Amino acid sequence: MFDSAAPLPDGCTDRQIALAKFDAVRGDTEALAANLTPEDQSIQSMPDVSPTKWHLAHTTWFFETFILSRFDPDYRLFDPAFRFLFNSYYEAAGPRHPRPQRGLLSRPTVDIVGAYRDHIGAGMARFVERAPEPAWQEAAPLIELGLHHEQQHQELILMDIKHVFSINPLLPAYQAPHPQIAVPMAASGWIDFIGGLVEIGHRGDGFAFDNETPRHKVWLDPFRLAAHPVTCGEFLDFIEAGGYQKPEYWLSDGWAAVRAEGWEAPLYWRREDGVWTIFTLGGLRRLNLAEPVCHVSFFEADAYAKWAGKRLPTEAEWEVAAEGVPVSGNFADRRHLHPDPDHEGGASGTLRQMFGDVWEWTASPYISYPRFRAPAGAIGEYNGKFMCNQMVLRGGAAVTPAGHLRATYRNFFPPSARWAFAGLRLAEDG
Ligand SMILES: [Fe+2]
Repeated sequence: MFDSAAPLPDGCTDRQIALAKFDAVRGDTEALAANLTPEDQSIQSMPDVSPTKWHLAHTTWFFETFILSRFDPDYRLFDPAFRFLFNSYYEAAGPRHPRPQRGLLSRPTVDIVGAYRDHIGAGMARFVERAPEPAWQEAAPLIELGLHHEQQHQELILMDIKHVFSINPLLPAYQAPHPQIAVPMAASGWIDFIGGLVEIGHRGDGFAFDNETPRHKVWLDPFRLAAHPVTCGEFLDFIEAGGYQKPEYWLSDGWAAVRAEGWEAPLYWRREDGVWTIFTLGGLRRLNLAEPVCHVSFFEADAYAKWAGKRLPTEAEWEVAAEGVPVSGNFADRRHLHPDPDHEGGASGTLRQMFGDVWEWTASPYISYPRFRAPAGAIGEYNGKFMCNQMVLRGGAAVTPAGHLRATYRNFFPPSARWAFAGLRLAEDG
């Protein structure tokens, strides 16, 4: 499980490397589903959530649609109906089953979806070994994209099953609880950055999604970033100060969401007999005040920052600050699947937990970088058409596959979304 970042032996050809990566990533996805029943894998608890079974099939559809059907003249579709059932949002790939109705599909069964995955796995192995060089050259970047796409869906599988389990009165646990280690509350420190004329965006070495390009110049005034993400204890102070009852801290759309949705705390927090508990992928447990707050919307992150007299960082500030910080931390390979307290506690003077634990909401709208051009064809729909009405998050979370993240990685969600593993880090002007 979660071993797709493992190094390959020296001397592998590009094709052998691609196939080994394909097998590893596909195996990781299947491992995530292994401790779920077919019933667990079929439920859609809200329109944003997709059933595990759908994720398993849709990631498979991606390879069938964009590689095998396009580049392998000998490939035969597993089931023509799957072109409709498992297309997510690609207009150029034809009509599709409505997203809010994914949970109504008792058929195909989990077993049939497993056979679909096997069919595509065998087809891809054949293609990678035998494709003529021109077809291979064209297909190889799409295979790499398909594997990064599948890793994104690995995170979605965990986000989505957590929501599915959270609405079940039995509160099932996805995995055994991770032991809680008592750590001191992190000292609240600040790190200074001089800003100036800086560059952000992908440099061009290694894989990146199109939305991370082109690299471009940005002017930053001096700024400061908090050494740590905001903790549950700090967020509890906001709740106890009446933060959810005072419109002065909230954007207009955020206040409307608070009223309409009855928000009183982050998603998955509960208060029973005066005791705060939190639902995790390891089940329900007492809230740990030292761990980063998670499952807040952009609106809640922004309201907290205003209450604290600070602000959220822009994505350019975050990226410049993250440059040189090792891309390591509490990612899915640790199998905690929940943000951890900073085990080094009081250590200060450096940025902590920039990668892993929780995605960090930024103050930046998700729009294209200057001179961005989406690729032609269906693949151009991957990111570009969503560049409106969403906010950027940075850094990855405890459910993000290890090896999937970069400092330039731009995640994005609508400002009201709470089911992502999203928290915040404060910023202020320097
Ligand atoms: Fe997808």
